[in-house]
Amino acid sequence: MASNIPIFLSSLLLLLLSSTLTVHAEDPYRFFTWNITFGDIYPLGVKQQGILINGQFPGPQIESVTNDNLIINVFNSLTEPFLLSWNGIQQRRNSWQDGVYGTNCPIPPGKNFTYILQVKDQIGSYFYFPSLGMHKAAGGFGGFKILSRPMIPVPFPPPAADYTLLAGDWFKANHTDLKAILDGGNDLPFPDGVLINGRGPNGNSFTVEQGKTYRFRISNVGLTTCLNIRFQGHTMKLVEVEGSHTLQSTYSSLDVCMGQSYSVLVTADQPPLDYYIAVSTRFTNPVLTSTAILHYSNSAGSPVGSPPGGPTVEIDFSLNQARSIRWNLTASGPRPNPQGSYHYGLINTTRTIRLANSAPVINGKQRYAVNSVSFIPADTPLKIADYYQISGVFSVGSIPDNPTFGGGYLQTSVMGANYRDYIEIVFENYETTVQSWHIDGYSFFTVGMDGGQWSSESRKGYNLRDTVNRCTVQVYPKSWTAIYMPLDNVGMWNVRSENWARQYLGQQFYLRVYTPSTSLRDEYPIPKNALLCGRAAGRRTRPL
Ligand SMILES: *[C@@H]1O[C@H](CO)[C@@H](O)[C@H](O)[C@H]1NC(C)=O
Ligand SMILES: *[C@@H]1O[C@H](CO)[C@@H](O)[C@H](O)[C@H]1NC(C)=O
Ligand SMILES: *[C@@H]1O[C@H](CO)[C@@H](O)[C@H](O)[C@H]1NC(C)=O
Ligand SMILES: *[C@@H]1O[C@H](CO)[C@@H](O)[C@H](O)[C@H]1NC(C)=O
Ligand SMILES: *[C@@H]1O[C@H](CO)[C@@H](O)[C@H](O)[C@H]1NC(C)=O
Repeated sequence: MASNIPIFLSSLLLLLLSSTLTVHAEDPYRFFTWNITFGDIYPLGVKQQGILINGQFPGPQIESVTNDNLIINVFNSLTEPFLLSWNGIQQRRNSWQDGVYGTNCPIPPGKNFTYILQVKDQIGSYFYFPSLGMHKAAGGFGGFKILSRPMIPVPFPPPAADYTLLAGDWFKANHTDLKAILDGGNDLPFPDGVLINGRGPNGNSFTVEQGKTYRFRISNVGLTTCLNIRFQGHTMKLVEVEGSHTLQSTYSSLDVCMGQSYSVLVTADQPPLDYYIAVSTRFTNPVLTSTAILHYSNSAGSPVGSPPGGPTVEIDFSLNQARSIRWNLTASGPRPNPQGSYHYGLINTTRTIRLANSAPVINGKQRYAVNSVSFIPADTPLKIADYYQISGVFSVGSIPDNPTFGGGYLQTSVMGANYRDYIEIVFENYETTVQSWHIDGYSFFTVGMDGGQWSSESRKGYNLRDTVNRCTVQVYPKSWTAIYMPLDNVGMWNVRSENWARQYLGQQFYLRVYTPSTSLRDEYPIPKNALLCGRAAGRRTRPL
């Protein structure tokens, strides 16, 4: 606990002073100053207005080590409000830093806000992204890796290099046009292409030396489609999924759904040439494919043949692959023994929440919903309204625990939950499109996944031994996915579709994990630098 105390003294000067004074007890600090601007980008050959961070698209990568304190001062030089959020970064006791509209006031144009995050007890591969409107369609995202502390063993030899590969579908229309399409009650069109690290076909080259092994941290930062990735002539050894070290199985192609992150090892064990890295849209017709180059430093020439083909619309292949991904129970996580004396499969759940997605038309417009409720934002961030006890912004219990199968309706939906409960969530997909669900502030055990309708009998097939612990999970068409989640993080947390059109049109809600305790051990107080807006404008973050 002592190591967290300086966070409350949130003036940077005090932070620096106290960290200097207690240097031995202190987890390290890393400082970032980011300037967010609009700038021209040409990822598919046409000029677009991109969101740049310090002039870069994608934005700079965050490299950190377990328990680091990250002080990220974000200057919004756009002409519109802006927020960054951190996909998969748990921010324990600190939903104040989550950077979604339910927790934070947008940073006004010309202003700045300093995020103070601690990557407490985490390792793994993640990304950050701009959370408001359709900003994500313009860039503003980047990789976010958390390395193990030096004394914690990693279950594979250090790779010769650690590459980040951010892939995603891409639209030539700009974010304001895409938002207007959605605001008009329409679906997005089919994407125009796939980008890898912000570039179109063969815009990226990853150099490898023959005989050496490389880590690729792959995240799907796109808006609407799952992806499949292949390395021509090479295999991928899966080693990490959103912070869990996996049993190291080998794959020739890997599905990565919206918002998901995977680490693979690729050994340069082929004749010295260039090879395609192919990324295609999954479960779509047509299929969009883009490529990058795996370049041997002693390469004799360009890639031979065409990029390797992969699975396209097949669902069973993907379902079987997802189920084959297991946790390595003997490997370290953020601590030497990730399991300790607690095992997720031996604890009885205290509550079951079933969440069904749907696509209702409400007031003549296409919307998306969870248990028939299509989320609409309030005039004040929910976390801030909760803190100041401003009534009328939202009510706890405004989304049911089970599907209603009734007509859709608009609501600022917040589900209540008790700190320390151990819950089962079943995501039920009665639609014909694949879903990808993410829960902020948490990671969870994906205990089951299957076609058809979930029932209590489905529990007999759960993997209660060695499934991975992750933060984003897919649900196949006409299928279900079940997770177990210990509610160990107090706060207001966004539960959302990672399909960005669906998220924007209401397939999300907030989970308010509550304790009556006001102890700092359970939740941090509002940051002194918190921006206040809506009905909280003019309040104080500290007593006079
Ligand atoms: C951000 O970048 C813009 C454009 O280069 C520049 O005018 C502005 O001064 C920068 N702001 C900060 C805070 O660095
Ligand atoms: C804005 O940046 C300044 C430093 O330039 C910092 O002192 C201040 O705390 C930042 N504002 C917020 C709201 O974080
Ligand atoms: C699991 O982790 C252990 C400990 O690091 C390692 O020795 C072993 O090879 C790993 N097993 C698999 C199948 O990946
Ligand atoms: C987006 O594109 C439209 C044309 O389709 C253009 O009128 C508008 O100014 C663009 N907006 C931005 C923010 O670039
Ligand atoms: C879980 O519930 C079962 C059946 O109700 C019971 O027998 C078992 O002791 C419980 N386990 C724990 C760890 O509470």
